[in-house]
Amino acid sequence: MSIALLGLAACMVLTSLAMLKNMLTQKLGSLRDPLQVYNTLQSIDVLPLRMRGWIFSTIVGFANPYARTINFRITELRKGKACGVMKETKTISNPFRCVHAAALITFGETVGGLALFTLLGKKDRAILTNITAEYIKVSRGLLTASSIVTPIKDRDATEITTHVLIKDASFETVSKLTLTWKVDLKD
Ligand SMILES: *[C@@H]1O[C@H](CO)[C@@H](O)[C@H](O)[C@H]1NC(C)=O
Repeated sequence: MSIALLGLAACMVLTSLAMLKNMLTQKLGSLRDPLQVYNTLQSIDVLPLRMRGWIFSTIVGFANPYARTINFRITELRKGKACGVMKETKTISNPFRCVHAAALITFGETVGGLALFTLLGKKDRAILTNITAEYIKVSRGLLTASSIVTPIKDRDATEITTHVLIKDASFETVSKLTLTWKVDLKD
């Protein structure tokens, strides 16, 4: 690689780190527009794909510190949709070698929250008030979560219910989550 290219790559990494720092100095609201952050990262071609994924997860981790307890990556984020993967690790497994129920909840809340936030404006607020999980199958290995939220038509709504589906590597549903959000839509 030429020096110029290396310089450019270093510059891009620094830019991303600066962006990360900006995110850090703000609070949870930093991820009020997760889609913009995600798309910006995706457009930085010189950053390896893995690094973009890692940076985004790290940003999510700062906005929602509890998400740092699980090893996850967001694989898709667009208006009204979020998908992610979570790897089973020793720390999130219980003695029966399956993913702990609380880790599934954290994973589901993270993906479900991102999906909803893609539909919110800068001044809109959403707080999780109820989360229920149905455990359908023992969960092991690599899990994927997806959440699709229909566009919010009723701007006077005070409550929104969303769903997250968690599947295992053989595409079988291991858990279904229902999330209720108290919303304050201003935009
Ligand atoms: C929480 O959500 C579940 C599933 O939608 C529902 O059955 C339950 O009644 C809710 N609990 C409260 C306190 O609203």
